[in-house]
Amino acid sequence: MIEHGASWQDLLRQTRVYLEILREGGIEFADGQFAKSVKAAVEMPTATRPKTAPASQPRGMSAEERAALKAALTDPYARLMPKPPAAPVAPSARPTPASGALPGGIGRAAPASVAPAKAAKVTLKDRTEGAKIIAAAGDLNQLQHLISGCYMCNLSAGRTHTVPGEGNPRAALMFIGEAPGYHEDVQGRPFVGRAGELLTKMIEAMGLRRTDVYIANIVKCRPPGNRDPLPEEMLACEPYLKRQIELIRPKVICALGRIAIQGLLRETTPITQLRGQWRTYQNIPLMPTFHPAYLLRNPGGKRFAWEDLKAILAKLGLPVPAGRGGP
Ligand code: URA
Repeated sequence: MIEHGASWQDLLRQTRVYLEILREGGIEFADGQFAKSVKAAVEMPTATRPKTAPASQPRGMSAEERAALKAALTDPYARLMPKPPAAPVAPSARPTPASGALPGGIGRAAPASVAPAKAAKVTLKDRTEGAKIIAAAGDLNQLQHLISGCYMCNLSAGRTHTVPGEGNPRAALMFIGEAPGYHEDVQGRPFVGRAGELLTKMIEAMGLRRTDVYIANIVKCRPPGNRDPLPEEMLACEPYLKRQIELIRPKVICALGRIAIQGLLRETTPITQLRGQWRTYQNIPLMPTFHPAYLLRNPGGKRFAWEDLKAILAKLGLPVPAGRGGP
């Protein structure tokens, strides 16, 4: 894994090692195309490829690792929920990789006006490769660059802006919501509509500011008509969130609402039962609570959400306001 603060050269070098791993795993690309695409995406001079990978680098995937990766990338939700029908998207509206885009379904998508009618098909191989590239992003800016050009799922076709997330890159507390809505899509920022106003109040009631925490979503593009993100969309976007969490290394995650819990923990237990119960995600304590949009519709839930936020403050070792308080 790339160290924090690694240079672009390190990123490229690591990415090329991944190419070797993928080749060993039986995934082939036209010679040189991968490195060229990476170079174009990161806009930097080509680094010299090491003759041999450092001893600490993985040298290939075992049969078990490949099987586990395939299982993870196929559909872990299948066990939990019936598969919803795929959202109908006109083939001409679907983004198609521009030349120089990364082959893993990430990179700049061609503008709609020049997109050929043929739909971009993102395969398991693309996902595998995309996940490797995302996992090698050395900081949040690199990750944001990858997200801004992502076309790994159909949501990319309808977006105005990607909404990668914002806040303190070293935040101790990370909030994870569901998906951008109308205002977030227009501004490219998370939680800026009515639900966002309430989330801001919740954060301030904790004695914090929005800039102290990090706010992200399970998916980085707005689902049409604000529908729930589909399982395959959450799955396609998951590598970005995982890398965000690895880079930020929050001490606590607060999952906002049912969809965030499904996306993170693959659980379909109602949020009314899950909230207030500590869980873990990637070894980080995770507190599920109500989504601010739910609280706008059900203000009676606010006192429970406030209990959850106070539990988070206690876990972080921060002062817990006395009395009922809350947003
Ligand atoms: N709801 C979410 O889950 N996320 C946003 O960014 C906005 C509203």
